[in-house]
Amino acid sequence: METKELQKRIRGLIKERNAILLAHNYQRAEIQEIADLTGDSLGLSIQAAETDAEVIVFCGVHFMAETASILSPHKTVLLPRMDAGCPMADMITAPALRRRKAELPGVPVVTYVNTTAEVKAESDICCTSANAVKVVNSLDADRVLMTPDRNLARYAQRHVSAEILLWDGCCNIHDKLRADHILRAKERWPEAVVVAHPECRPEVLDLTDAIRSTSGMLGFCKESKATQFIIGTENGLLYQLRTQNPDKKFYQASRSMVCPNMKLTRLRDVAVALETMDPVVTVPEDVRLKALVAVNRMLAVPRD
Ligand code: 13P
Ligand code: SF4
Repeated sequence: METKELQKRIRGLIKERNAILLAHNYQRAEIQEIADLTGDSLGLSIQAAETDAEVIVFCGVHFMAETASILSPHKTVLLPRMDAGCPMADMITAPALRRRKAELPGVPVVTYVNTTAEVKAESDICCTSANAVKVVNSLDADRVLMTPDRNLARYAQRHVSAEILLWDGCCNIHDKLRADHILRAKERWPEAVVVAHPECRPEVLDLTDAIRSTSGMLGFCKESKATQFIIGTENGLLYQLRTQNPDKKFYQASRSMVCPNMKLTRLRDVAVALETMDPVVTVPEDVRLKALVAVNRMLAVPRD
């Protein structure tokens, strides 16, 4: 079937199943094009929980579908590609976190939403790339352990007085962006404003004009008076940036910033998932309830 036909078929199935199609900002353009909602992982799950849809089709990676299920236990959550994982989420396990906690009694654990439900369940509070600083500041603690992204933790450390203990994980897509890439991009597009994601290395962040989550970048570039931007994040975001700002120019900081897991989902996978109502992502109830505490604590932190 051709792209347009498949897109039409999917929209029809979505209606039949009383479903909602969510696409992360890094998904393929042809999927973002037909999504009911696009955005960052947490924003999407929160919005999905607020709808009347009985089925959530999550075009993203496994931890995102789990988060949707944690917040919407009575909805069916479909992840069209069960093999779409996140290497950063795999850099920490619940047993490994329990061992580290035993070495750090009384130290609260702040966990990035890019983790499994089991790891969230072992954590005191979650954070996203957008609210990490506010979450750490909301804890009345001298020391916190932040997992699993060492780059996000180092970024947060610049803005908080508490000592942040690192977990040695990272997003290998953002971590491979180097200062050299930014310097070369600046040479090529000297007028452009540089915006990067806090999952990037500190020496990369030092060369930027703004540091934002994916949704934060969309807001920043829309509001900015500048007309050219160098973007340091997974290149799927360029689709939304260009669609929302047709008069502005967006350049990739590095062409190699492509997350293979985020690109696994294709239109035909979405159609098959809706036809067969499979694969479904669920979270065991005991794990879900504990993970929900950490997610809800984060949601209770004032946003501004
Ligand atoms: P955000 O969209 O929350 O900024 O997340 C970035 C990311 O790497 C998701 O996999
Ligand atoms: Fe995981 Fe990085 Fe891919 Fe996001 S971009 S899913 S953090 S590997």
